[in-house]
Amino acid sequence: MIKKCTTSPSVPAKAELLVIGLFQGELDVMGSLELGQETVSWFSDECERCDFKAEKKQKLEFSPISGLKILVVGLGQRDDMEPEDRLALGAMATRTAREHKMKQGCLIFADGFPDHESLTDVSCGLYLGDYRFERYQTQNTAPESFQTWTLQHDNKASASLKKAKALSEGICRARDWVNEPGNRLTPVVLGQQAQEMAEEKGLKIKVLGPKEIAKARMKLFLSVSDGSTANPPALIHVEYKPKKKSTRKVFLVGKGVTFDSGGLSLKPPKSMMTMKCDMGGAAAVLGAMSAIADLKPDVEVHAVVAATENMADGSATRPGDVVESRSGKTVEILNTDAEGRLTLADALSYSVDQKATEVIDLATLTGACMVALGPHMAALYSDDDELQHGLLEAASKSSEEIWPMPLSKKLKASIKSPIADLKNIGGPHGGSITAALFLQEFVGETPWAHLDIAGPAFSESDSAYGIKGGSGYGVRTLVEYLCS
Ligand code: BES
Ligand code: MN
Ligand code: ZN
Repeated sequence: MIKKCTTSPSVPAKAELLVIGLFQGELDVMGSLELGQETVSWFSDECERCDFKAEKKQKLEFSPISGLKILVVGLGQRDDMEPEDRLALGAMATRTAREHKMKQGCLIFADGFPDHESLTDVSCGLYLGDYRFERYQTQNTAPESFQTWTLQHDNKASASLKKAKALSEGICRARDWVNEPGNRLTPVVLGQQAQEMAEEKGLKIKVLGPKEIAKARMKLFLSVSDGSTANPPALIHVEYKPKKKSTRKVFLVGKGVTFDSGGLSLKPPKSMMTMKCDMGGAAAVLGAMSAIADLKPDVEVHAVVAATENMADGSATRPGDVVESRSGKTVEILNTDAEGRLTLADALSYSVDQKATEVIDLATLTGACMVALGPHMAALYSDDDELQHGLLEAASKSSEEIWPMPLSKKLKASIKSPIADLKNIGGPHGGSITAALFLQEFVGETPWAHLDIAGPAFSESDSAYGIKGGSGYGVRTLVEYLCS
């Protein structure tokens, strides 16, 4: 992550890289930026030579005087601008600076930043674009962060920049957690790191071990960790309380399977290669807590993570086993690879019993979700219109793609078991829906939303403001939902 991001009314003299975001059809703005006549005419020559029109993603790099590089980035039509484009602008700036080993950058946004959101987004993009995960490359000696950025803006805009920093920190923490391999980030280690984060941020935290989890009657959760003798489970519960007592008590529940081998219903090798990502929901809710602690909304917020591995030791759950859930409902476990819903069922009932006024869970729950919506989009299931609407709105402001899905009643029959109350898999079709229907059985009357983030939690390749691996998906939507 970059070192620092501030605003200043003018371009600092020590800037080595000047990044200018321009809208299509507004190239003459360059003339009013006090860049000097020489630079402006250099720019118009370059525009002609490179056919630069400031279309989306088009860029132009030139160096009118020694010691200063200018990067002009096309933003496309002013009316087509999306938050994502502003993130991409920021990320392109830090990546260019890194490429040229430059420490001081300044960014100018067209004829000025139009609002708070644009400042926050661009600043966020600066932080996110500089994210890397290289701690296990022993030959890599590049410093973690060395860039300082100035956004050209008339006033301090400290609230906007603070939000960007808090969000970016939360997102980068989430990315780190997902990127950490399964042998390094075990359930206990995730608990320790959540504890460190909570202490740093002044949040209350409880981490329960196997005995306490058993005492809390979370047998479904334990049925997943049974296959893992080497690494015991941990129940992580983080709490943020606002100064003023709030009538809302929101619980964020994250799937925290630190590695999913499938258990005895073992996955094929290829499907297992990225399964360290199976705590992407946990990473998102804990990352969101980090940002929430900084931004201090007037809502009480809890994060609950039932952290475990899903392994195939001799004591592992057998397909066909019947286990009682914390809520009392019994479950026939027919496929031990459908483990996320088992851990979540107990985490959801634990949350509901703490008098949650809303529960939102995030989980890398089903491959079927990726079949339905592709790799970039999360599925949203909810039994509450207001909550659903709020999350859709927050997601669109965050440019995290999310799509509402049905809790189709007709599919409920497919998760009924002939010998227990429920079974943990449905039929061959609608796999993301049947998983959501299973979770719904454990939330009672509490307003609830479920986000299946199997696709977007982990990127298969580098992107405009992220790299291959953990994306931090969900942090922005959650924080936006809770802080606005
Ligand atoms: N963690 C997986 C889902 C997943 C798949 C996440 C791909 C990210 C990328 C989950 O535990 C799982 O294995 N689901 C099964 C459910 C099935 C057995 C009913 C699946 O999707 O195949
Ligand atoms: Mn699984
Ligand atoms: Zn899983």
